[in-house]
Amino acid sequence: MSLKIGDKAPEFTLPTDGGGTIALKAQRGKKVVVYFYPKDDTSGCTAEACGFRDAMPDFSKIDATIIGISRDPVRAHDKFKQKYQLPFTLASDEGAEVCEKYGVWVQKSMYGRKYMGIERTTLLIDEKGVIRGLWPKAVYPQRPARPGRPLLLPARDMPKRRAGGSLAGRIALLHALAHIELNAIDLAWDIVARFAAAELPREFCDDWVRVAAEEAEHHALLAERLTAFGAAYGDLPAHDGLWQAAEATAHDLLARLAVVPLVLEARGLDVTHDMIARLSRHGDGESATVLRRIYSDEIGHVGTGLRWFEFSCTRRALPPVETYQALVRRFFRGTLKPPFNDDARTGRCRH
Ligand SMILES: [Fe+2]
Ligand SMILES: [Fe+2]
Repeated sequence: MSLKIGDKAPEFTLPTDGGGTIALKAQRGKKVVVYFYPKDDTSGCTAEACGFRDAMPDFSKIDATIIGISRDPVRAHDKFKQKYQLPFTLASDEGAEVCEKYGVWVQKSMYGRKYMGIERTTLLIDEKGVIRGLWPKAVYPQRPARPGRPLLLPARDMPKRRAGGSLAGRIALLHALAHIELNAIDLAWDIVARFAAAELPREFCDDWVRVAAEEAEHHALLAERLTAFGAAYGDLPAHDGLWQAAEATAHDLLARLAVVPLVLEARGLDVTHDMIARLSRHGDGESATVLRRIYSDEIGHVGTGLRWFEFSCTRRALPPVETYQALVRRFFRGTLKPPFNDDARTGRCRH
């Protein structure tokens, strides 16, 4: 966007819901919040509109007019407004001329396809028509914020974990799992931030927010076990392979789902039984119980990944099995080692 705070807001007159028109100039003497959004009744735009709706009492206190602008026709605005009881004006910029004047009509890409679209942007315009606040599209970080420890090492430099049941061995195992869970929290939120705007239904967000909550519980449960052993998350080095998988698949939802839930999390299901058996054998029933809980949630996460993978394949008219195989070959660095826990992978296991 080329506009900046202090600039005069470009004038516009647009048709609105309810068959009216709105002119920015006619709002002089009032504060105006103008927000540009991609499309009526899609998950991100609905959340944003409902956010403005719920904050209406605050906007009323400062006597501000709210105007939402997209390229949807007036009749789509009418439906959207009625469906969510939106108490403000929705204006229709079907030719994108106003979007262009404001610099929010930009090239985007989805599934590798390039197209022009509206960049979600909000502006606050003062009583004289001057821009006083500017909130361009929220940008999410390539890497999430992380605690100062653990030290991250390349996978090949990680100390080998011993299979025995010594206390140090168990701490190392729980620490490695706690690190995986921390990454899993970030991965679930990253999927929402990065891909939810790609016109996916609301349930997509709900599913991954639920996954993020469960991953956070897993991390907390493992951190508690570490504390019980006089250790803490961060005490040992950890490797960064999981986040590298996230970066390698940041461009495409199908690649992300194929590699993260459908290879890496599914791989977790393959190896957890052995870990539970080993912990029980060495008398650590409490850690085994934590792993059982994680195991049963993780079956759900693989199921969630599969559901949205199939959904996206259908939407793009791609055959799921061949697409999965091609994406894994291309984006997963490593080999798939048996044994495979087929029952759990297909959600048939009830432990
Ligand atoms: Fe987990
Ligand atoms: Fe998970």
